[in-house]
Amino acid sequence: MAVEGFAPAKVNLTLHVTGQRQDGYHLLDSLVAFADIGDHLSLTPGPELTLEVSGAFCEGVPTDARNLVWKAAVGAGWSGGIHLQKSLPHGAGIGGGSSDAAAVLRAVAARGGHIPGDLALSLGADVPVCMVAKAARMQGIGEQITPVTLPELPAILVNPRLSVPTPQVFRALSSRTNPAMPTHLPNFASAGALALWLAQQRNDLEAPALACQPVIGQVLSALSSLPGVRLARMSGSGATCFALFERADLAAENARAIAATHPGWWVQPTVLR
Ligand code: C5P
Repeated sequence: MAVEGFAPAKVNLTLHVTGQRQDGYHLLDSLVAFADIGDHLSLTPGPELTLEVSGAFCEGVPTDARNLVWKAAVGAGWSGGIHLQKSLPHGAGIGGGSSDAAAVLRAVAARGGHIPGDLALSLGADVPVCMVAKAARMQGIGEQITPVTLPELPAILVNPRLSVPTPQVFRALSSRTNPAMPTHLPNFASAGALALWLAQQRNDLEAPALACQPVIGQVLSALSSLPGVRLARMSGSGATCFALFERADLAAENARAIAATHPGWWVQPTVLR
């Protein structure tokens, strides 16, 4: 029988780069939340591993060992057919491939399979937080995960249909040692209170990503000028940006407006949790 998996989009509400390890990986302090939109997977046990990809963003997605889904299946000792429906843009700062890999590991674990402890991180720095798939603070290079309780955040995700290579963005950072978030995060009474607090935090990758891909500046300025917007920021290493609202109807209305004015952009209203 097939097992279904859901791989939600990951959004870095904050992303503070606080240092760099000897091996080049950066130390992060990031508040992460997950959307109610994402990729869908279906795993059917069988004698050999195969991967088939469909969906709006299937073009250019490898169907072999180059795909993190494949690597996750091999690492977890799972064989059979995997169907991946790509609804999320890739190379987009919303953890598409990492979330897909995490969904495979969760599905294998749900069938009683053993997931080696270091497998998730070995697949990518974002995979451990994607295993949780709920709001969490991510530290270290991505391996230290602390679940947090956040109010639901009505949001819009916008990608200008451009991918930005993550290593290039990290290389373009002007400072690698920036302040972390406060040790203790406040309790947030509402989406508005959380957005106000988030506005005092940062995504340290925003400036270097903008230097690599100036259209991100256009996305951020379009989102910042929407009526009722509480915060506009880039997620991960870009190019996807998000805008936060206090109500879902405002997010939906503004998503329709921005999709109409920028028909080439990928625009999705969502709720982050
Ligand atoms: O771990 P992952 O393969 O997703 O990382 C992609 C690239 O992003 C790494 O090769 C590295 O250049 C950069 N990165 C980093 N520090 C992190 C996570 C990613 O420098 N904590």
